[in-house]
Amino acid sequence: MLIHGLTPILLCLLAMWRILTPVLSHPQHSQCQLIQRTALCNNGELSSVPAGLPDNVEELQLNYNHIQTLQDNSLLRYPSLNTLSLACNSLEKIESHTFQHSKLLESLNLANNNLHIGSQETSHALKTLPGLRALDLSQNELNDEMVATLLQNLTSLEYLDLSGNLLQRLDETSFGDLHQLKELDLQRNIMYEIDGAFDSNPKLQRLNLAFNYLLCLTDFHMTQLVVLNASHNFIEWFITRQNLNDTFQLETLDLSNNKMLFFPFLPDHSHLRTLYLSHNSVSFYEHLADNSTYPNSTTTVEFYNMKKYMGNVTTQLWDESLHGDISSVETLDLRGNLVEYFPDGFIQKMPALSRLQMCTNCLETLNLTSEQFSGSLYELDLSNNRLSKIVADRGALTALGNLTYLNLSLNNLERLPSGLFSSLQSLRSVDLSYNNVDICRPEEADTGKDASSACADWKDIASLTQLYLKGCNLKIIPSSAFAGLSLTHLEMSDNPGLIVQESIQSLSRTLQHLGLGNTQIQDLDFSHLQSLESLNISRNSLAYLPPSLLSLDLKVLDLRDNRLSTIPSGQANTLASKLHTVFLTGNPFNCCQTEWFSTFETKKTINMVGRSGIECEDLIQMTHRVEHSQSFICLEKGGESIIWYILLFVPICLSFVGILAIVLLTFKPKMLQKSIKKNCLKPTSY
Ligand SMILES: *[C@@H]1O[C@H](CO)[C@@H](O)[C@H](O)[C@H]1NC(C)=O
Ligand SMILES: *[C@@H]1O[C@H](CO)[C@@H](O)[C@H](O)[C@H]1NC(C)=O
Ligand SMILES: *[C@@H]1O[C@H](CO)[C@@H](O)[C@H](O)[C@H]1NC(C)=O
Ligand SMILES: *[C@@H]1O[C@H](CO)[C@@H](O)[C@H](O)[C@H]1NC(C)=O
Ligand SMILES: *[C@@H]1O[C@H](CO)[C@@H](O)[C@H](O)[C@H]1NC(C)=O
Ligand SMILES: *[C@@H]1O[C@H](CO)[C@@H](O)[C@H](O)[C@H]1NC(C)=O
Ligand SMILES: *[C@@H]1O[C@H](CO)[C@@H](O)[C@H](O)[C@H]1NC(C)=O
Ligand SMILES: *[C@@H]1O[C@H](CO)[C@@H](O)[C@H](O)[C@H]1NC(C)=O
Ligand SMILES: *[C@@H]1O[C@H](CO)[C@@H](O)[C@H](O)[C@H]1NC(C)=O
Ligand SMILES: *[C@@H]1O[C@H](CO)[C@@H](O)[C@H](O)[C@H]1NC(C)=O
Repeated sequence: MLIHGLTPILLCLLAMWRILTPVLSHPQHSQCQLIQRTALCNNGELSSVPAGLPDNVEELQLNYNHIQTLQDNSLLRYPSLNTLSLACNSLEKIESHTFQHSKLLESLNLANNNLHIGSQETSHALKTLPGLRALDLSQNELNDEMVATLLQNLTSLEYLDLSGNLLQRLDETSFGDLHQLKELDLQRNIMYEIDGAFDSNPKLQRLNLAFNYLLCLTDFHMTQLVVLNASHNFIEWFITRQNLNDTFQLETLDLSNNKMLFFPFLPDHSHLRTLYLSHNSVSFYEHLADNSTYPNSTTTVEFYNMKKYMGNVTTQLWDESLHGDISSVETLDLRGNLVEYFPDGFIQKMPALSRLQMCTNCLETLNLTSEQFSGSLYELDLSNNRLSKIVADRGALTALGNLTYLNLSLNNLERLPSGLFSSLQSLRSVDLSYNNVDICRPEEADTGKDASSACADWKDIASLTQLYLKGCNLKIIPSSAFAGLSLTHLEMSDNPGLIVQESIQSLSRTLQHLGLGNTQIQDLDFSHLQSLESLNISRNSLAYLPPSLLSLDLKVLDLRDNRLSTIPSGQANTLASKLHTVFLTGNPFNCCQTEWFSTFETKKTINMVGRSGIECEDLIQMTHRVEHSQSFICLEKGGESIIWYILLFVPICLSFVGILAIVLLTFKPKMLQKSIKKNCLKPTSY
């Protein structure tokens, strides 16, 4: 028993001994910390590789030091090294024979250095590494020629990071020897053209081209690629090489933040699951392909190439069937484009679609019946379009049984399909904000006669937890509006004149967040909302805090832009003991009654958002920051009375001065003349 108990302690001591020994025996390298066979010498002032480390170290980290040259003999002592990291060192070169004895080196991190200075010599050193698999050359100001030189003969390389350099143009010479390459990061260069650069890299699976200056990706034929990231370029066209029978391995394609006008021309056979096209100018043009309207319009586009004209690509522009194989697409992100409609059968081609993000486009109508969304649809975001009409029959709605998130905010909707919400049995979050849809009163409830209804009815949808109804011109909420729901979030801000009545009483068990900003509510009884954690009653002209707030366990309270002049200390203490976040700016606080501020301030657990922007007014209506509260003139005896003193005192003084002047001038009229002469008849020189 005793021995068993001691073993871990002994092991611990042993480990500590091993950590301490090198440090003790080589005090000059105390910057290094040894953990098993890893030496961590980061953030030191080292100008060379420390010499006194155990010769069996396998990993050596020398990041953030001052090593300018890695000298021939510097790694001689460490033949077991397989990982070397020299990021952020102002390293200019690696001498040719440095790696002579580092035959096991597999991973080399040279990020953020100045290797552009000594790239030639460094390239000789790299050639002596037969087993190098991972190389990070990011942020070294390397240009096309330097990179080509550095990468010559690195036939074993699998991971290469060249991000943040000065690459402009890639062709077949750039990565010609990297036959094993699997992952390549080229983001944040200044590339404008890629021409046959990856034909020698048949194993390349992940390619990042983000943040460059590419204008198009045509003749795409990298069938083995799994992830292609070309976001943040100036790409107008993405066109796959046509007539390829192979199945592309592509799963993720990121073309977001480009200049695409057309939906990308994707491979005919692929496993594409995620397609990011947000922030382009994508639209569909099928309606323009009508020959009679535009008889002479071109239907093909040709691409030429800087170096040779052979690789020209021609494509049929208006043929929507060239969208390629989208049958595996699960996520389609089209946020921020110019889509007005979906071409016939487009949605149907994606039976696996689970997220469709269409926020900020130009959709005007949507016929859920004809589009035939798949049953796997989970998230549908149609916010910020121009939708005035959504059509759906019962069948189409029942098919959307997995829909969980529906965002229709910022449209022009006045009617919704009858029974929209009651048919969607998995619905958890609905956003109807900024439309003109009312809430159904009991007598208006769905009769099933009309195909659409001017009010929304979500009675008894057990799954619904979040409901957003901002800015819907709501006036009177029927008291049964939320019956049968278990909402945790209810947002009804920006409905001026809102009358909530007893409607929220039915949510007293579940409601955690309630938004009533800009609704002109005055005194609402919150006391029954015992689960409430976050309350927004900003912009409501409240002159005092509703007393029923004090019994709640509120964590977040937004009181901005009301008319509070103070928070009585009893209330401040109660709130201070519960709140985590409070918003108080935009209230005309009284500078002479700011004890609440110090109550909140001394309580370190409260975050007063925009603390320095909380202002108050002093006796003469001057505005100050409450946090500088020492500097106000506040007379001890309450604020108001002093104003009356001033108001009385000033007229009395003025009358006295007036009488004095009249008396003086009556008895000495000469003085009057003199003073007039002096002031008015003085010769003036211009
Ligand atoms: C690099 O590869 C070329 C052929 O691609 C070969 O001629 C040359 O000897 C190689 N250099 C080294 C240092 O291995
Ligand atoms: C593409 O690269 C950008 C920049 O690094 C990154 O923000 C984005 O998340 C990447 N996209 C994907 C799908 O990983
Ligand atoms: C594509 O496959 C079909 C039949 O599978 C074959 O007839 C055709 O020649 C192939 N085309 C190419 C370009 O390989
Ligand atoms: C336009 O004309 C071409 C041939 O002239 C025809 O093949 C095509 O179907 C026509 N398209 C439409 C939309 O009428
Ligand atoms: C279309 O082309 C024909 C012949 O090339 C020409 O006569 C006609 O004026 C053109 N139409 C338009 C609208 O440009
Ligand atoms: C481009 O391709 C088209 C169709 O294949 C061909 O007619 C045209 O001559 C080519 N252009 C050049 C410059 O090679
Ligand atoms: C919606 O689509 C269905 C099925 O294609 C069609 O019968 C119905 O007329 C369409 N409704 C509207 C308003 O376009
Ligand atoms: C919901 O999704 C599950 C699994 O993805 C699927 O089995 C089911 O059929 C879907 N429901 C509907 C109504 O399509
Ligand atoms: C709905 O979309 C709008 C606009 O895109 C966004 O601001 C809002 O947060 C979304 N609502 C929800 C509940 O996510
Ligand atoms: C409270 O509601 C107002 C009005 O809609 C809004 O501007 C503000 O951002 C909301 N506060 C918080 C903390 O979300």
